[in-house]
Amino acid sequence: MTNFAGKLQDNFFHIISKVCTDSNTKAFVIGGFVRDLIISRPSKDVDVVVLGSGIKVARKVSEELGKGANVKYFKNFGTAMIRHGEWVIEFVGARKESYRSHSRKPIVEDGTLSDDQNRRDFTINAMSLSLQKNSYGDLLDPFNGQEDIENRIIRTPLDPDITFSDDPLRMMRAIRFATQLDFDIAPSTFEAITRNKNRISIVSGERVADELNLIVLSNKPSKGFVLLDESGLLKIIFPKLADLKGVEVINKQAHKDNFYHTLQVLDNLSQNTDDLWLRWSAILHDIAKPVTKRYSPETGWTFHGHEFIGAKMIPGIFKKLKLPQNDKMRFVQKMVQLHLRPIVLSQDIVTDSAVRRLLFDAGDDIDSLMMLCDADITSKNEEKVKRYLKNFQLVRKKLKEVEEKDHLRNWQPPVSGEVIMETFGLSPSKTVGDIKIAIREAILDGEIDNTFEDAYAFMLEKGKEKKLRVVKQIPDNHGGK
Ligand code: CTP
Repeated sequence: MTNFAGKLQDNFFHIISKVCTDSNTKAFVIGGFVRDLIISRPSKDVDVVVLGSGIKVARKVSEELGKGANVKYFKNFGTAMIRHGEWVIEFVGARKESYRSHSRKPIVEDGTLSDDQNRRDFTINAMSLSLQKNSYGDLLDPFNGQEDIENRIIRTPLDPDITFSDDPLRMMRAIRFATQLDFDIAPSTFEAITRNKNRISIVSGERVADELNLIVLSNKPSKGFVLLDESGLLKIIFPKLADLKGVEVINKQAHKDNFYHTLQVLDNLSQNTDDLWLRWSAILHDIAKPVTKRYSPETGWTFHGHEFIGAKMIPGIFKKLKLPQNDKMRFVQKMVQLHLRPIVLSQDIVTDSAVRRLLFDAGDDIDSLMMLCDADITSKNEEKVKRYLKNFQLVRKKLKEVEEKDHLRNWQPPVSGEVIMETFGLSPSKTVGDIKIAIREAILDGEIDNTFEDAYAFMLEKGKEKKLRVVKQIPDNHGGK
């Protein structure tokens, strides 16, 4: 019998043990905490299953812990949660019914430990550790979860058709754990996912999105997306990404497979950032390629405008995937829309004005954009890769120079609309807007400097052209930078 008593030394484990002895109940640490302890992944989330009332045990434990503990009861669900320092300890009665987190259904609390273990999702999540005095720390592992950890296998404890029909989200969880832990899914478990894939549609979009985001945040997210694709789940939960798959050949000319390209960009990027939304930008950067794909004998395959169409598709995709409709979404839109700009820049002679425009459009997100563009270089031709990266270095240098000179990040017009209105005695109107745009364009084109003086003089010029009368001169330092 494997024993982990040494790993259960925090005082609250002993307090739970004592409370249970005193009240003649039994309790076990179960699920993710046990799995993570064996994998040596530090975790402070502890699930405790009680053969009896989880709430009663939690109440006594919190009394013993005294002031340091904060306890909450969820009577409808028969669960309780104690926060103690960094620890979050959840108590639940053993159940006969399937375990699922976020379940809205009341819990039937009359199970044995093995009932409870039977209804869990995977063998590696069904192990428990005894908190009884005479067997403290003993591993109870009826489905050989420890062996599956050693062999790096995700497998359901019961017939997978039963486990997945209990909670179809577990199909996503299987793929998520395989990706996070770099495990394989047992063939019979994987076949069951393929067989039951359509049942995912009864799960709430939010729960699917949570799992998807965990896949996206893994070290090598492509693994999860390949599994989603191979199981057929991808077509159901995210068909637009599945549409990127495939290579068409006309006149012996083929385009690249944009699904695998996208996954490589995502993996490349993931080596450099944990930013979920930048990773989503990688997933979506070429999303409009299928709808913009054209072939002509002269130019071969083209995807004209896929960055603009792609940006337009983002709100719809985010809505369907239950991702936020806020500034995170707008950030992804911006990245998708701008993702070709640095590449175009690096292929041309890099002019200051083109760099200025890029800085203006990207603002504070310029570094994220450059990171995405680096990751987008997936050519197998090493010479090409070297050349691109070298050109990007040049673009970066230019960006820095122009930024230092012109301060265009988070650009604010040096002459405001109010100043234009006061000067010419105008009320808000198209004329005011036109002058503002003219000033901005002149700065971006490098005709004038990004200063109050230059912009003010330019504004007076524009006013003259438009036959406007100056009704008030603004002193030099008005709003000047
Ligand atoms: N569980 C389950 N079926 C689900 C969700 C959870 O059987 N659909 C069980 C598993 O035993 C799991 C435990 O509940 O280990 C806790 O679930 P959860 O907190 O969602 O996941 P963890 O396994 O702790 O992993 P992570 O913290 O990485 O999500």
